[in-house]
Amino acid sequence: MLSWDDFHAQETPTPNQHGRAGATPPQSESVSEEAASAPQAPAEGSAADAGNDHAERQPGHDELRGSTEAALTDAVARAQQAVARMDAAEGLAELEGTAGRVQVDDKRMINCRADLNQLVPFKYDWAWQKYLDGCANHWMPQEINMNADLALWKKEGGLTDDERRIVKRNLGFFSTADSLVANNLVLATYRLITNPECRQYILRQAFEEAIHTHAYQYCIESLGMDEGEIFNMYREIPSVAKKAQWGIEYTREISDPKFTTGTVETDKALLKNLIAFYCVLEGIFFYCGFTQILSMGRRNKMTGVAEQFQYILRDESMHVNFGVDVINQIKLENPHLWDQGMRDKVTQMILEGTELEIQYARDTMPRGVLGMNAAMMEEYLQFIANRRLTQLGLPEQFKGVTNPFPWMSEIMDLRKEKNFFETRVTEYQVGGALSWD
Ligand SMILES: [Fe+2]
Ligand SMILES: [Fe+2]
Repeated sequence: MLSWDDFHAQETPTPNQHGRAGATPPQSESVSEEAASAPQAPAEGSAADAGNDHAERQPGHDELRGSTEAALTDAVARAQQAVARMDAAEGLAELEGTAGRVQVDDKRMINCRADLNQLVPFKYDWAWQKYLDGCANHWMPQEINMNADLALWKKEGGLTDDERRIVKRNLGFFSTADSLVANNLVLATYRLITNPECRQYILRQAFEEAIHTHAYQYCIESLGMDEGEIFNMYREIPSVAKKAQWGIEYTREISDPKFTTGTVETDKALLKNLIAFYCVLEGIFFYCGFTQILSMGRRNKMTGVAEQFQYILRDESMHVNFGVDVINQIKLENPHLWDQGMRDKVTQMILEGTELEIQYARDTMPRGVLGMNAAMMEEYLQFIANRRLTQLGLPEQFKGVTNPFPWMSEIMDLRKEKNFFETRVTEYQVGGALSWD
């Protein structure tokens, strides 16, 4: 571990350091000074030769030092001149909306002209609160003990083939899905959401996605799995590949660096991307896998993996919650975007996502396992789809479905997915400890 003494020792330059910056570093320079403490002769020549060499080179060394110091002086002078020539107004002119101090009413979710470098005054308090809640829930994958999982995974007959399939498929899907989400956030969403408090949460979310990807990698490594098999499922297993492909389709247009919003068409493209990622990828595609892994944990199997997924689930509940608030705020500020064509399109997206997740449930559960089966999961996913539609202000599409896994809703749907447009959430936990009461 570094101490401050180490820090100062490392930072203190030796007299040679300037000399080494020269075009031809004199090897004898370091040799001569190090020789004082090291009795060994330099690599080349005798000790006497080295002494003579040192004496002969001394003027060269001074010249070099002199020229280096002169060069440094020039560099400092040039830097001072550059700073003196700076015109602050020129820089400010490049920032959007610099006519005056930012007023709350200047702020907007998209196409905002107010200065993006000013976090306050807050307009969307809920976004800032979610940033604080996310920070309060910080955790790291290595904090979770994986020993029992490894023992069970390696034990002959420890898990059934169907249970092993569930663990592998889900690690395969989620490791790719969280990378897709992170890429979309960083390469597209962050740039196009023009509100600093929302961007602050997006930065937090991006880090959480990195932690999730880390968690899957940590599980795969801890269990000694075939990394090639797991990380390539999104190419090789159709039920995984289709979900990844669906997400990529919606990110293609807006992740183009030249893409900008500002027209009805492009604003709708952004809105569709947000709905695809927050409401379908994170809001539907994660639900079968989370339910399966948590059901495993409830049966005292793969408890380390299940605990990793519990922490991820807690984060994801907030991601969905944040995304729904952003989408509804954009709709509120741009009602012309939410026309009948858009409503139909979004309903179709939610239904496509639900169908893909049902196919994934059938692929991962060809038979009943862990107290559930594909038919129960289908109903659960329809229940989730209804919830997503309702959150977006759209009519439910699956009449009369109920939730066959009320324990899942206890964990995530009902308590943690309440959003700003429904009611404020007050139940976030502080610190890393989980409590799933
Ligand atoms: Fe994630
Ligand atoms: Fe997420």
